[in-house]
Amino acid sequence: MKRSKIAGLGYYVPSRVVTNHDLVQIMNTTHEWIVERTGILERRYVSEEDKNYTMAAQASKTALERAGISPYELELIVYATLSPDYQFPGSGVLLQRELKCRTIPAIDIRAQCSGFVYALSVADQFIRTGMYQNALVVGSEIHSYGLDYSDYGRHIAVIFGDGAGAAVLKATDNLQEGILSTHLHSDGEFAEKLALLSPSFSCKPPRITEEMLSPGGSFYPVMDGPFVFKNATQRFCEVILEALQANQLRVEDIDLLVPHQANLRISQAIQKQLGLPDSKVFNNIQKYGNTTAASIPIALTEAWEAGNIKDGDLVCLAAFGSGFTWASALIRW
Ligand code: COA
Repeated sequence: MKRSKIAGLGYYVPSRVVTNHDLVQIMNTTHEWIVERTGILERRYVSEEDKNYTMAAQASKTALERAGISPYELELIVYATLSPDYQFPGSGVLLQRELKCRTIPAIDIRAQCSGFVYALSVADQFIRTGMYQNALVVGSEIHSYGLDYSDYGRHIAVIFGDGAGAAVLKATDNLQEGILSTHLHSDGEFAEKLALLSPSFSCKPPRITEEMLSPGGSFYPVMDGPFVFKNATQRFCEVILEALQANQLRVEDIDLLVPHQANLRISQAIQKQLGLPDSKVFNNIQKYGNTTAASIPIALTEAWEAGNIKDGDLVCLAAFGSGFTWASALIRW
Protein backbone atom coordinates (compact mmCIF):
# COMPACT_ATOMS: atom_id res chain seq x y z
CA MET A 1 0.00 0.00 0.00
CA LYS A 2 1.20 3.47 -0.92
CA ARG A 3 0.23 6.98 0.08
CA SER A 4 0.12 10.10 -2.11
CA LYS A 5 2.08 13.17 -1.15
CA ILE A 6 1.63 16.65 -2.54
CA ALA A 7 5.01 17.24 -4.17
CA GLY A 8 4.31 20.55 -5.90
CA LEU A 9 1.68 23.28 -5.97
CA GLY A 10 0.99 26.12 -8.39
CA TYR A 11 -1.66 28.62 -9.36
CA TYR A 12 -2.45 31.09 -12.10
CA VAL A 13 -4.82 34.02 -11.92
CA PRO A 14 -5.47 36.39 -14.83
CA SER A 15 -3.79 39.79 -14.53
CA ARG A 16 -7.07 41.74 -14.88
CA VAL A 17 -8.17 42.86 -11.40
CA VAL A 18 -11.88 43.71 -11.10
CA THR A 19 -12.69 45.53 -7.88
CA ASN A 20 -16.15 45.97 -6.37
CA HIS A 21 -15.94 49.58 -7.54
CA ASP A 22 -15.41 48.32 -11.11
CA LEU A 23 -18.54 46.16 -10.79
CA VAL A 24 -20.54 49.17 -9.59
CA GLN A 25 -19.84 50.72 -13.03
CA ILE A 26 -21.53 47.84 -14.88
CA MET A 27 -24.23 46.59 -12.49
CA ASN A 28 -26.64 47.56 -9.76
CA THR A 29 -24.62 46.89 -6.59
CA THR A 30 -22.41 48.59 -4.01
CA HIS A 31 -18.96 47.92 -2.60
CA GLU A 32 -20.48 47.92 0.90
CA TRP A 33 -23.13 45.28 0.07
CA ILE A 34 -20.55 42.95 -1.46
CA VAL A 35 -18.07 43.31 1.42
CA GLU A 36 -20.71 42.91 4.11
CA ARG A 37 -22.35 39.82 2.56
CA THR A 38 -19.32 38.06 1.06
CA GLY A 39 -16.04 39.62 2.28
CA ILE A 40 -14.88 39.99 -1.35
CA LEU A 41 -12.92 43.11 -2.32
CA GLU A 42 -11.82 42.14 -5.81
CA ARG A 43 -11.58 39.20 -8.21
CA ARG A 44 -9.71 38.38 -11.43
CA TYR A 45 -11.34 38.21 -14.86
CA VAL A 46 -9.77 36.57 -17.89
CA SER A 47 -8.48 38.50 -20.88
CA GLU A 48 -8.89 37.23 -24.42
CA GLU A 49 -5.71 35.15 -24.37
CA ASP A 50 -6.81 33.12 -21.32
CA LYS A 51 -8.70 29.88 -21.73
CA ASN A 52 -9.71 27.40 -19.06
CA TYR A 53 -7.03 24.89 -20.11
CA THR A 54 -4.29 27.49 -20.68
CA MET A 55 -4.78 28.78 -17.14
CA ALA A 56 -4.65 25.18 -15.94
CA ALA A 57 -1.42 24.69 -17.91
CA GLN A 58 0.20 27.74 -16.30
CA ALA A 59 -0.71 26.52 -12.80
CA SER A 60 0.42 22.98 -13.68
CA LYS A 61 3.82 24.10 -14.98
CA THR A 62 4.59 25.76 -11.64
CA ALA A 63 3.39 22.70 -9.71
CA LEU A 64 5.43 20.33 -11.91
CA GLU A 65 8.57 22.43 -11.60
CA ARG A 66 8.23 22.50 -7.82
CA ALA A 67 7.66 18.73 -7.79
CA GLY A 68 10.76 18.24 -9.94
CA ILE A 69 9.04 16.20 -12.64
CA SER A 70 8.53 16.90 -16.33
CA PRO A 71 5.14 16.72 -18.07
CA TYR A 72 6.53 13.72 -19.97
CA GLU A 73 6.87 11.77 -16.73
CA LEU A 74 3.24 12.38 -15.70
CA GLU A 75 1.01 9.31 -15.52
CA LEU A 76 -2.45 10.78 -14.90
CA ILE A 77 -4.39 14.04 -15.19
CA VAL A 78 -7.52 14.65 -13.13
CA TYR A 79 -9.15 17.94 -14.11
CA ALA A 80 -11.98 19.57 -12.16
CA THR A 81 -14.06 22.33 -13.72
CA LEU A 82 -17.66 23.48 -14.11
CA SER A 83 -16.71 25.82 -16.97
CA PRO A 84 -14.98 23.54 -19.51
CA ASP A 85 -13.58 24.86 -22.77
CA TYR A 86 -15.95 22.66 -24.80
CA GLN A 87 -19.13 20.68 -24.09
CA PHE A 88 -16.97 17.78 -25.18
CA PRO A 89 -14.24 16.67 -25.13
CA GLY A 90 -13.32 17.58 -21.57
CA SER A 91 -10.59 20.06 -20.71
CA GLY A 92 -8.35 17.24 -19.42
CA VAL A 93 -7.32 16.23 -22.94
CA LEU A 94 -6.66 19.86 -23.87
CA LEU A 95 -4.30 20.09 -20.92
CA GLN A 96 -2.65 16.80 -21.92
CA ARG A 97 -2.03 18.30 -25.38
CA GLU A 98 -0.91 21.68 -24.06
CA LEU A 99 1.62 20.15 -21.65
CA LYS A 100 2.82 17.65 -24.29
CA CYS A 101 2.29 14.70 -21.96
CA ARG A 102 2.38 11.13 -23.21
CA THR A 103 -0.99 9.51 -24.04
CA ILE A 104 -1.85 9.30 -20.35
CA PRO A 105 -5.44 9.19 -19.04
CA ALA A 106 -7.17 12.53 -18.59
CA ILE A 107 -10.23 12.37 -16.35
CA ASP A 108 -12.65 15.29 -16.06
CA ILE A 109 -14.49 15.77 -12.78
CA ARG A 110 -17.83 17.54 -12.52
CA ALA A 111 -18.35 18.23 -8.85
CA GLN A 112 -18.34 22.04 -9.00
CA CYS A 113 -16.96 23.69 -5.83
CA SER A 114 -16.03 20.28 -4.43
CA GLY A 115 -14.31 19.40 -7.71
CA PHE A 116 -10.73 19.76 -6.54
CA VAL A 117 -11.19 17.54 -3.47
CA TYR A 118 -13.05 14.98 -5.60
CA ALA A 119 -10.20 15.11 -8.15
CA LEU A 120 -7.60 14.76 -5.41
CA SER A 121 -9.44 11.72 -4.11
CA VAL A 122 -9.60 10.07 -7.55
CA ALA A 123 -5.87 10.60 -8.14
CA ASP A 124 -5.12 9.39 -4.60
CA GLN A 125 -6.94 6.08 -5.22
CA PHE A 126 -4.83 5.36 -8.33
CA ILE A 127 -1.64 6.07 -6.41
CA ARG A 128 -2.66 4.10 -3.30
CA THR A 129 -3.30 0.99 -5.33
CA GLY A 130 0.10 1.30 -7.01
CA MET A 131 -1.28 1.85 -10.51
CA TYR A 132 0.46 5.21 -10.92
CA GLN A 133 3.45 6.84 -9.24
CA ASN A 134 2.42 10.42 -9.94
CA ALA A 135 -0.61 12.46 -10.97
CA LEU A 136 -1.54 16.04 -11.82
CA VAL A 137 -4.70 17.35 -10.14
CA VAL A 138 -6.13 20.60 -11.46
CA GLY A 139 -9.02 22.98 -10.81
CA SER A 140 -9.64 25.74 -13.34
CA GLU A 141 -12.59 28.08 -13.95
CA ILE A 142 -13.77 30.94 -16.13
CA HIS A 143 -16.91 32.44 -14.61
CA SER A 144 -16.76 36.00 -15.85
CA TYR A 145 -18.04 35.24 -19.38
CA GLY A 146 -21.09 33.40 -18.03
CA LEU A 147 -22.52 35.67 -15.34
CA ASP A 148 -25.78 37.62 -15.40
CA TYR A 149 -24.88 41.18 -14.42
CA SER A 150 -28.55 42.24 -14.40
CA ASP A 151 -30.62 42.42 -11.19
CA TYR A 152 -31.63 38.76 -11.71
CA GLY A 153 -28.09 37.54 -11.26
CA ARG A 154 -26.40 40.22 -9.19
CA HIS A 155 -26.23 38.11 -5.99
CA ILE A 156 -24.24 35.53 -8.02
CA ALA A 157 -22.22 37.81 -10.30
CA VAL A 158 -20.49 39.58 -7.41
CA ILE A 159 -19.22 36.32 -5.91
CA PHE A 160 -17.40 34.55 -8.73
CA GLY A 161 -13.95 35.02 -10.23
CA ASP A 162 -11.58 33.28 -12.66
CA GLY A 163 -8.37 31.33 -12.00
CA ALA A 164 -6.64 27.97 -11.80
CA GLY A 165 -4.67 25.89 -9.30
CA ALA A 166 -2.79 22.61 -9.53
CA ALA A 167 -1.13 19.98 -7.36
CA VAL A 168 1.28 17.21 -8.33
CA LEU A 169 0.87 14.01 -6.32
CA LYS A 170 3.69 11.53 -5.92
CA ALA A 171 3.63 8.06 -4.38
CA THR A 172 5.35 7.57 -1.04
CA ASP A 173 5.96 4.41 1.02
CA ASN A 174 5.82 6.40 4.24
CA LEU A 175 2.29 5.75 5.51
CA GLN A 176 2.63 8.50 8.13
CA GLU A 177 2.62 11.29 5.53
CA GLY A 178 0.60 12.51 2.59
CA ILE A 179 -3.15 12.22 2.05
CA LEU A 180 -4.48 10.38 5.11
CA SER A 181 -8.04 10.13 3.81
CA THR A 182 -10.67 11.76 1.61
CA HIS A 183 -14.43 11.88 2.21
CA LEU A 184 -16.86 12.59 -0.62
CA HIS A 185 -20.63 13.18 -0.57
CA SER A 186 -23.53 14.28 -2.75
CA ASP A 187 -27.25 15.00 -2.45
CA GLY A 188 -28.93 15.59 -5.79
CA GLU A 189 -32.21 16.54 -4.15
CA PHE A 190 -31.09 20.16 -4.27
CA ALA A 191 -29.43 20.06 -7.71
CA GLU A 192 -31.36 23.08 -9.01
CA LYS A 193 -30.66 25.27 -5.96
CA LEU A 194 -27.30 26.22 -7.47
CA ALA A 195 -27.10 25.37 -11.12
CA LEU A 196 -26.60 26.38 -14.73
CA LEU A 197 -29.42 24.77 -16.72
CA SER A 198 -28.50 25.63 -20.32
CA PRO A 199 -27.15 24.79 -22.83
CA SER A 200 -28.67 21.39 -22.23
CA PHE A 201 -29.00 18.15 -24.16
CA SER A 202 -32.41 17.77 -22.50
CA CYS A 203 -33.73 20.79 -24.42
CA LYS A 204 -35.81 20.02 -27.48
CA PRO A 205 -34.77 21.89 -30.67
CA PRO A 206 -34.31 24.75 -31.04
CA ARG A 207 -31.90 24.17 -28.19
CA ILE A 208 -31.12 27.86 -27.81
CA THR A 209 -33.78 30.60 -27.67
CA GLU A 210 -33.68 34.38 -27.26
CA GLU A 211 -35.37 33.94 -23.88
CA MET A 212 -32.56 31.72 -22.59
CA LEU A 213 -30.01 34.37 -23.48
CA SER A 214 -31.88 37.35 -22.01
CA PRO A 215 -31.29 38.56 -18.41
CA GLY A 216 -32.70 36.03 -15.94
CA GLY A 217 -32.59 33.33 -18.67
CA SER A 218 -31.35 29.79 -18.23
CA PHE A 219 -27.98 30.53 -19.84
CA TYR A 220 -26.98 32.07 -16.52
CA PRO A 221 -26.44 30.40 -13.14
CA VAL A 222 -29.25 30.35 -10.59
CA MET A 223 -28.67 30.22 -6.84
CA ASP A 224 -30.88 30.24 -3.77
CA GLY A 225 -28.30 32.11 -1.69
CA PRO A 226 -29.72 31.72 1.84
CA PHE A 227 -30.48 28.00 1.25
CA VAL A 228 -26.98 27.36 -0.07
CA PHE A 229 -25.49 29.28 2.84
CA LYS A 230 -27.36 27.22 5.45
CA ASN A 231 -26.49 23.88 3.87
CA ALA A 232 -22.87 24.86 3.28
CA THR A 233 -22.12 25.72 6.91
CA GLN A 234 -23.70 22.47 8.09
CA ARG A 235 -22.04 20.18 5.53
CA PHE A 236 -18.59 21.79 5.81
CA CYS A 237 -18.49 21.09 9.55
CA GLU A 238 -19.89 17.57 9.18
CA VAL A 239 -17.34 16.51 6.59
CA ILE A 240 -14.40 18.01 8.50
CA LEU A 241 -15.44 16.16 11.66
CA GLU A 242 -15.94 12.97 9.62
CA ALA A 243 -12.33 13.20 8.36
CA LEU A 244 -10.98 13.80 11.86
CA GLN A 245 -12.96 10.91 13.30
CA ALA A 246 -11.81 8.53 10.56
CA ASN A 247 -8.21 9.26 11.56
CA GLN A 248 -8.80 9.40 15.33
CA LEU A 249 -7.80 13.05 15.39
CA ARG A 250 -9.37 16.09 17.06
CA VAL A 251 -10.14 19.62 15.86
CA GLU A 252 -7.17 20.84 17.96
CA ASP A 253 -4.86 18.64 15.85
CA ILE A 254 -5.56 20.67 12.68
CA ASP A 255 -2.66 23.01 11.90
CA LEU A 256 -4.34 24.62 8.91
CA LEU A 257 -7.85 24.48 7.49
CA VAL A 258 -8.09 25.51 3.85
CA PRO A 259 -11.80 25.73 3.10
CA HIS A 260 -13.21 26.19 -0.39
CA GLN A 261 -13.51 29.96 -0.72
CA ALA A 262 -17.30 30.15 -1.11
CA ASN A 263 -17.98 33.26 0.92
CA LEU A 264 -15.96 34.74 3.79
CA ARG A 265 -19.01 34.57 6.06
CA ILE A 266 -19.30 30.82 5.42
CA SER A 267 -15.61 30.31 6.32
CA GLN A 268 -16.07 32.39 9.47
CA ALA A 269 -19.17 30.42 10.48
CA ILE A 270 -17.27 27.12 10.10
CA GLN A 271 -14.30 28.50 12.04
CA LYS A 272 -16.61 29.57 14.85
CA GLN A 273 -18.47 26.25 14.97
CA LEU A 274 -15.18 24.34 15.14
CA GLY A 275 -13.58 26.80 17.56
CA LEU A 276 -10.47 27.32 15.43
CA PRO A 277 -8.26 30.43 15.90
CA ASP A 278 -7.72 32.83 12.95
CA SER A 279 -4.16 31.56 12.53
CA LYS A 280 -5.46 28.09 11.61
CA VAL A 281 -7.87 29.08 8.83
CA PHE A 282 -6.61 30.32 5.46
CA ASN A 283 -8.79 32.69 3.44
CA ASN A 284 -7.99 34.60 0.26
CA ILE A 285 -11.51 35.13 -1.11
CA GLN A 286 -11.01 38.85 -0.49
CA LYS A 287 -8.62 38.94 -3.49
CA TYR A 288 -10.05 36.34 -5.86
CA GLY A 289 -13.75 35.83 -5.08
CA ASN A 290 -15.11 32.30 -5.40
CA THR A 291 -13.25 30.41 -8.15
CA THR A 292 -15.11 27.11 -7.52
CA ALA A 293 -12.83 24.14 -8.33
CA ALA A 294 -9.78 26.42 -8.45
CA SER A 295 -10.29 28.01 -5.04
CA ILE A 296 -8.72 25.31 -2.86
CA PRO A 297 -5.55 24.78 -4.95
CA ILE A 298 -5.07 28.56 -5.28
CA ALA A 299 -5.51 29.02 -1.51
CA LEU A 300 -3.36 25.99 -0.67
CA THR A 301 -0.56 27.26 -2.91
CA GLU A 302 -0.70 30.75 -1.40
CA ALA A 303 -0.71 29.31 2.13
CA TRP A 304 2.32 27.15 1.30
CA GLU A 305 4.16 30.04 -0.39
CA ALA A 306 3.51 32.24 2.66
CA GLY A 307 5.14 29.62 4.90
CA ASN A 308 1.88 28.75 6.66
CA ILE A 309 2.43 25.01 6.05
CA LYS A 310 5.45 23.22 7.53
CA ASP A 311 6.60 19.61 7.29
CA GLY A 312 4.56 17.46 9.65
CA ASP A 313 1.57 19.83 9.72
CA LEU A 314 -1.94 18.47 9.55
CA VAL A 315 -3.78 20.27 6.75
CA CYS A 316 -7.51 19.91 6.24
CA LEU A 317 -9.22 20.73 2.94
CA ALA A 318 -12.99 21.03 2.85
CA ALA A 319 -15.51 22.00 0.21
CA PHE A 320 -19.21 22.37 -0.50
CA GLY A 321 -21.00 23.36 -3.67
CA SER A 322 -23.51 22.83 -6.41
CA GLY A 323 -24.96 19.33 -6.60
CA PHE A 324 -25.02 19.54 -3.66
CA THR A 325 -21.59 17.99 -3.30
CA TRP A 326 -19.29 18.23 -0.33
CA ALA A 327 -15.93 16.72 0.53
CA SER A 328 -12.86 16.84 2.76
CA ALA A 329 -9.25 15.66 2.73
CA LEU A 330 -6.78 15.36 5.59
CA ILE A 331 -3.13 15.69 4.65
CA ARG A 332 -0.03 15.15 6.81
CA TRP A 333 2.50 17.45 5.14
N1 COA B 1 -25.93 44.16 -4.59
C1 COA B 1 -26.86 44.79 -3.88
N2 COA B 1 -27.98 44.20 -3.44
C2 COA B 1 -28.14 42.90 -3.74
C3 COA B 1 -27.20 42.18 -4.48
C4 COA B 1 -26.05 42.85 -4.92
N3 COA B 1 -25.09 42.26 -5.63
N4 COA B 1 -27.63 40.92 -4.62
C5 COA B 1 -28.80 40.83 -3.99
N5 COA B 1 -29.12 42.04 -3.46
C6 COA B 1 -30.30 42.39 -2.66
C7 COA B 1 -31.48 41.51 -2.98
O1 COA B 1 -32.18 42.00 -4.11
C8 COA B 1 -32.29 41.62 -1.72
O2 COA B 1 -32.99 42.85 -1.72
P1 COA B 1 -34.45 42.99 -1.06
O3 COA B 1 -34.25 42.67 0.39
O4 COA B 1 -34.81 44.40 -1.34
O5 COA B 1 -35.30 41.97 -1.76
C9 COA B 1 -31.23 41.72 -0.63
O6 COA B 1 -30.02 42.14 -1.29
C10 COA B 1 -30.98 40.42 0.09
O7 COA B 1 -30.83 39.38 -0.87
P2 COA B 1 -30.47 37.91 -0.46
O8 COA B 1 -30.20 37.08 -1.67
O9 COA B 1 -31.47 37.41 0.55
O10 COA B 1 -29.09 38.22 0.31
P3 COA B 1 -28.25 37.34 1.29
O11 COA B 1 -28.07 38.05 2.57
O12 COA B 1 -28.72 35.93 1.32
O13 COA B 1 -26.84 37.38 0.57
C11 COA B 1 -25.53 35.93 -0.74
C12 COA B 1 -26.73 36.85 -0.72
C13 COA B 1 -25.49 35.32 -2.12
C14 COA B 1 -24.28 36.74 -0.52
C15 COA B 1 -25.67 34.85 0.35
O14 COA B 1 -26.94 34.27 0.30
C16 COA B 1 -24.65 33.79 0.23
O15 COA B 1 -23.47 34.05 0.39
N6 COA B 1 -25.04 32.53 0.00
C17 COA B 1 -24.11 31.47 -0.21
C18 COA B 1 -23.59 31.63 -1.58
C19 COA B 1 -22.39 30.80 -1.85
O16 COA B 1 -21.50 30.72 -1.07
N7 COA B 1 -22.40 30.20 -3.02
C20 COA B 1 -21.35 29.42 -3.45
C21 COA B 1 -21.43 28.11 -2.78
S1 COA B 1 -20.13 27.17 -3.27
